[in-house]
Amino acid sequence: MNFVSDDYYYLKAKHKGYRSRASYKLLEIEQKFKIFQKNQIVLDLGASPGGWSQVASSEVGKNGKVLAIDKAYISPFKEENIEIINRDIFDEELKNFIEENYGKIDLLLSDCSPNISGDYSRDHFTQINLANRALDLSQFLLKEGGCFVCKLFHGKELQHFTNKTKESFETFKLFKPKSSRKKSAEIYIIGFKLKKQN
Ligand SMILES: C[S@@+](CC[C@H](N)C(=O)[O-])C[C@H]1O[C@@H](n2cnc3c(N)ncnc32)[C@H](O)[C@@H]1O
Repeated sequence: MNFVSDDYYYLKAKHKGYRSRASYKLLEIEQKFKIFQKNQIVLDLGASPGGWSQVASSEVGKNGKVLAIDKAYISPFKEENIEIINRDIFDEELKNFIEENYGKIDLLLSDCSPNISGDYSRDHFTQINLANRALDLSQFLLKEGGCFVCKLFHGKELQHFTNKTKESFETFKLFKPKSSRKKSAEIYIIGFKLKKQN
């Protein structure tokens, strides 16, 4: 990731020992929506370099577990409740692998994003593909009543995606954290309480 050295959140993250300024986005989401509980199993998609996993690790406590998934390398954590799974989220075997090894999960986070090409509609489309995959995985892997947090980019597919989230979860909110750069098109959707799956 590309950090600007004089960025307030970058410096704050460095001071606190977080691996990325992105930690503050998840902390703001937690402060506003209270998504975490002790002892939860959390799936963190697009976890590298690991700022969200560090926050999740502390929120779920030593009896909880965080599964940090990324196709990019993630360097080992000192936190013992984080497991690194080095895979692409489109890997067909991923959902069975998670279910067989860890069972159903309480909370699915996705901060996945593509390498930005600069072509806005292409980046939006790639981002929506990642978000759709995260939503599919949430429907398969979350316990009934589980919660979903996912990064989106503003654009023409946003409304359709929020409608799909609304069908699967009892309620949802869209949220732009203060720590998200103003010029960034990103916004987060939070789906509360997965409905019973057929
Ligand atoms: C913005 S970074 C995530 C930052 C992270 N939340 C943190 O707090 O440090 C986005 C990540 O999404 C990952 N990603 C993008 N496409 C992916 C895919 N298909 N499968 C797994 N990870 C993917 C990238 O490799 C990148 O590490």
